[in-house]
This record gives sequence, C-alpha cells and structure tokens, in this order.
Amino acid sequence: MVAVAVALQINRFEALPSTNTLALDLARADAPAWTTVVADRQTAGRGRLRRVWHSPPGCGLYCSVILRPSLLLEHLPRLTLAAGVAICRALEAMGVPAPRIKWPNDILLAGRKVGGILTETAPLTGAGSTPPPVVIGIGLNLSTPLAAFPPAFRNRATSIAAATGLALDPESLLEKILAHLQAEVALLEDAGFDAILEEWRRRDGMRGQVLTWLNTIGEKVEGIGLGVDAAGLYHIRDRHGTVHEVLSGDLDLAWPGQKD
Ligand code: BTN
Repeated sequence: MVAVAVALQINRFEALPSTNTLALDLARADAPAWTTVVADRQTAGRGRLRRVWHSPPGCGLYCSVILRPSLLLEHLPRLTLAAGVAICRALEAMGVPAPRIKWPNDILLAGRKVGGILTETAPLTGAGSTPPPVVIGIGLNLSTPLAAFPPAFRNRATSIAAATGLALDPESLLEKILAHLQAEVALLEDAGFDAILEEWRRRDGMRGQVLTWLNTIGEKVEGIGLGVDAAGLYHIRDRHGTVHEVLSGDLDLAWPGQKD
C-alpha cells in the first residue's frame, strides 16, 4: 500500500476549459507542489502535439498536478515516464490487468489507448536557470463511449470499462494515482532515473511490436520496438537492421484494423 506522503490540495470543478491550463496559472501564482486540479469535463482539453483531448462528462478522469521537482531542467521529460509508471501502478492496484505504456505518454489496455499524459512547464519570468514548476496532466477514459471519439481514432481507443468490464470510481483512482505519483517522483529524485526505467520497461507496450515513426525529416520509418535507452529515448530497428533513436514526434503501433 502506497500512502500519500505530502499534503494535497485538490481543487474540483464541474467544468473547465483545461485542467492543465488552470494548473499552469496556479503554478505561476505560487501554488504549492502537489496542488491538484480535477474536472468532470473539459471544454478545451489538450493532448500532446497540439491535439484535442475529448473530455465528455461523467465518464473520464481529467486531472492536473503541480510538481516542483528537484531535477535538472534537461531531466524534466523523465517525469512523463515516471507518471506513466505511477498510472499503471494505480490501475494495477484497482484490479486493471496489464496496463501498458506507449512511449512517451500513452496508457494502453489490450493494445488500445485508454489514457494520456501531458507534461508542461510553467516558466517563471526572471527565474533564471531555476527549473520551472511542472504540470502533469492526466486523462483516462473510464467509461467513455466509443462514439465520443472522432471516427479516425475509434479503432485505437478504448475505455477501462470497455476493456475490462470494471467501473472504477474516479475519486479512488485519483487518490491512488496521486499516491503512486508521489512515490515515483520521490524515487526519481532520490534513487535516479534507472529505478524508473526498470519499472517502465516492465510495462513497455511497444517492445517487439511493429512500429512506425515519422522521423525528423518527415520520412516514415517502420521497425520493431527495441525499448527505451538510459536517457529515456525509444529505439526501433528497421528491416535493414538500422537502429533509429526516436527523438521527437509520434511512434505508432500497427493498430488493430489499421489499413495503411
Ligand atoms: C495525450 O495523450 O496526448 C495527452 C492527453 C492528456 C489529457 C489530459 S486531461 C487532463 C489534462 N488537461 C488537459 O487539457 N490535458 C490533460
């Protein structure tokens, strides 16, 4: 059992444009670490790479947590991997079998996306080289109907209820996620990144899978997922044996039902 170690302030809303946007504003206004924002629905939920995060009411968990980690600026992306581990651990603790992570920020169940993480920083004017506060935004589809997703996304998305038959209570899940996030961030700060990588690799949903990646010059690279390296970057091996280090952008699984 992981206990919440640090006092939390949880701000609950019926509706918000985006919990991340409010959490970033609160962080800039000096809100303490672990201040959390949660909404039943979002009208302008944001995903990675400027995507929309569909956030209908009564069927998802949409929350954002302010962190003030003792990490170097260049190591802040490690928090996304730590958050992925924390979410998987929380889901496992609630009886969800085999949650997996698709690098860097997707949570998968049975190969389909059930959640995502959006890590953003709130740079403070005049703060020099001090690492800025970080907001970890988490969206999880608890019982979201497939019809709520855009048609192009329906064959790659799912909800926890659809994938497992479990009706999770959002409050209990939030409590578990926060407890595990505190534990994983403490591990990252105290024991270092290797400890997180070890747990992350156990939940890697891409290792051994056929993946495609749009590389930095816009070429489509297809290969087999090899896993994350010591810096947290993903590697894939193409059919010529060349190993590519995925620096940015999106890695795609060959999703069920995908035609191209
Ligand atoms: C992704 O998969 O691209 C990341 C999705 C993150 C969505 C969550 S929902 C709560 C928080 N508020 C937002 O606007 N986005 C994140």
